[in-house]
Amino acid sequence: MKTFGIITLNIESEASYIHEIAARSHSCGMECYHFLPSSINPLTKQVQGRRFCATKKSWVDGEFPIPSLIYDRCFYGDDEHSKQCIPIVSWLKSMDDITFLGFGLPNKLELYETLSNSRLSPYLPHSQSIKDCLQVANALYKQKKIIIKPINGSQGYGIYYLKKNNKTIHVKTEKNKKIISRIFPNETKLFQWLQPLINFRPYLLQPYLELSNTSSQPFDIRILLQKDEKGVWVERGKGIRIGNTGGILSNLSAGGSVLDFTSWSSTQASKEYICSELNFITTNLPKILEREILPLFEIGIDIGMAKNGALWILDVNSKPGRKVVLQTEPDLEETLFLAPLLYGKYLTQSDYKERKSYYEKTLYH
Ligand SMILES: Nc1ncnc2c1ncn2[C@@H]1O[C@H](COP(=O)(O)OP(=O)(O)O)[C@@H](O)[C@H]1O
Ligand SMILES: [Mg+2]
Repeated sequence: MKTFGIITLNIESEASYIHEIAARSHSCGMECYHFLPSSINPLTKQVQGRRFCATKKSWVDGEFPIPSLIYDRCFYGDDEHSKQCIPIVSWLKSMDDITFLGFGLPNKLELYETLSNSRLSPYLPHSQSIKDCLQVANALYKQKKIIIKPINGSQGYGIYYLKKNNKTIHVKTEKNKKIISRIFPNETKLFQWLQPLINFRPYLLQPYLELSNTSSQPFDIRILLQKDEKGVWVERGKGIRIGNTGGILSNLSAGGSVLDFTSWSSTQASKEYICSELNFITTNLPKILEREILPLFEIGIDIGMAKNGALWILDVNSKPGRKVVLQTEPDLEETLFLAPLLYGKYLTQSDYKERKSYYEKTLYH
């Protein structure tokens, strides 16, 4: 039997998703394990973790060799444990006898640079790395409204909207599902706030796009793509995420709600245009990413629609959530629980060794 390991940074993280995958592993001819990267002994290459017992239908703690297939669901933060696990996962990715379902994606800026040389460049909001406060002031002077976000960010964390009024500067963010607004009387005061922020973590700057609906709620289209049991990219589903009125984020973690794509699109005058644009993005994006970066198993794409109807690729996640799709299409559950196992099985049957040596490039998370 093949061994299928799921890695997370916390044993409780995504507990029910991981349990559902494990419960189906035997039927796919696989033994399922779950462990933290930090529980590997690098000398013995033995892991302290848990194995799913098909008879008991539950997890059993134990020690085992590193499984040969790995499904990486590690979400890194700024904490010490994340810092400890990142190099361990890179080491795992470099091992010849271990196959990752997907190798992750680079940060938002590198992703922007890669995609801006592709046929998808018209869909990318212009992004620049923030070097100093003056650059932000210049962008505000020219564009009046901008967004700044952490280059390594996720879940809407640390994103700010900045708007230049005649003299003052309005800064808005969302934290713990609340909208926080602040007015700075001049640039000096703005810089006193901004400098420590950009010192602490790298930020990028984008034009602010009017991505709100007629009720001033920010919204975006979230699409889940995965590879199927033959290694072919398929669209599993798409849904609309809607944020707080007057807010800037449509992330569910910021308190957003979900609408199903079909009912939303049927209310849009430009429905056909939207669908053909989305189709262009979903057929091209995974191919470009895999050609330019590394092999992937799944991606979540965030697409914004501006008031003028233009579509923008806002974000691509290599460890996407399934909430939006499942809330609108609950029948997809079984497909989504089986997908990592079936793709893993496909990899063991295909020439994955070649896939690996071909991609001995920089490793991402
Ligand atoms: N340039 C922008 N203009 C307007 N809204 C934006 C812009 N960039 C992001 N947003 C809003 O912020 C949300 C989070 O941004 P995103 O780039 O996806 O970061 P994260 O990785 O934190 O999810 C988006 O889903 C969208 O609602
Ligand atoms: Mg996002």
